[in-house]
Amino acid sequence: MSIVEAKYIWMDGKLVEWSDANVHVMTHALHYGTAVFEGIRGYWDGSRLKVFRLKDHVRRLFYSAKVLYMQIPYSPEKVEEAIIETVRANQIRENCYIRPLVYRGYGVIGLNPLKAPVRVAVAAFPFGKYLEEKGVRCCVSSWRRIAIDSQPPAAKVCGNYVNSCLAKVEAILNGFDEAIFLDNHGYVCEGTGENLFIVRDGVIATPPTVTGILEGITRDTVIKIAKEMGFEVQERLIARSELYMCEEAFFTGTAAEITPIVSIDNRPVGDGSIGPITRKLKTRYFEVVMGKVDKYKTWVTEIEV
Ligand SMILES: Cc1ncc(COP(=O)(O)O)c(C=O)c1O
Repeated sequence: MSIVEAKYIWMDGKLVEWSDANVHVMTHALHYGTAVFEGIRGYWDGSRLKVFRLKDHVRRLFYSAKVLYMQIPYSPEKVEEAIIETVRANQIRENCYIRPLVYRGYGVIGLNPLKAPVRVAVAAFPFGKYLEEKGVRCCVSSWRRIAIDSQPPAAKVCGNYVNSCLAKVEAILNGFDEAIFLDNHGYVCEGTGENLFIVRDGVIATPPTVTGILEGITRDTVIKIAKEMGFEVQERLIARSELYMCEEAFFTGTAAEITPIVSIDNRPVGDGSIGPITRKLKTRYFEVVMGKVDKYKTWVTEIEV
């Protein structure tokens, strides 16, 4: 999907014109994937921008950086301020995506990045749906998700996403919309940029963190709201065959929100359209992100743009 350009990008403490937000070709991260990032959504309600779980995204950014031995040269509060400043400077009055990026910059060559500067950028730009709202047709990828003892999939490390790009492109070239990864033991893991849930006999299940998923903030949101709505939610190992036998399946993610999975490896999921539990969770999810649920209002940062 193409980027809708905004006016400014926050780079290392100041706003620069979108077209001037460039890096040197010898930037370490460009060669070796030594960078971490976040994806955050802002929802426009007609008068304010509502940014969902800002603090949690910034917290995960810092954890991801820590895994890569990167010391972010700002406090989490300063990064939150930078995000708000970027949204305001760009006067974004529509649904948007916010992309903080922390990367090893210019200065060293070779695989020890410790002496390369840690640089920080924040972009914010208009953004609509990432996946087809009505549902996606999936395949199980021939690529396995990165093993947890090979690279840290729970950290949002740029280099990890080569694995996702391979699976996504393979799925699309084979006529599907999205891929589902198995982990290196053959258990169901996640999508290329989404966590996965299935429903069996009315019980909601999602793979546990040991399978090498990203610990999704939307996943956490859905687990909490589903339990509150009275559903049983299990974090458990899921066999591939369960993908073909479940009544419902859906992805969760900041970009994907809650997207129904309507078929897997050419077998319809349920009747091949969005299932009743997925529909209910989706309705509730949008109430939560728009700040309409008192209990979760603290998850929503309102910004006057
Ligand atoms: C690999 C992967 N899994 C899951 C997710 C969902 O995470 P979140 O809900 O925090 O956006 C993402 C998106 O960030 C992702 O890239």
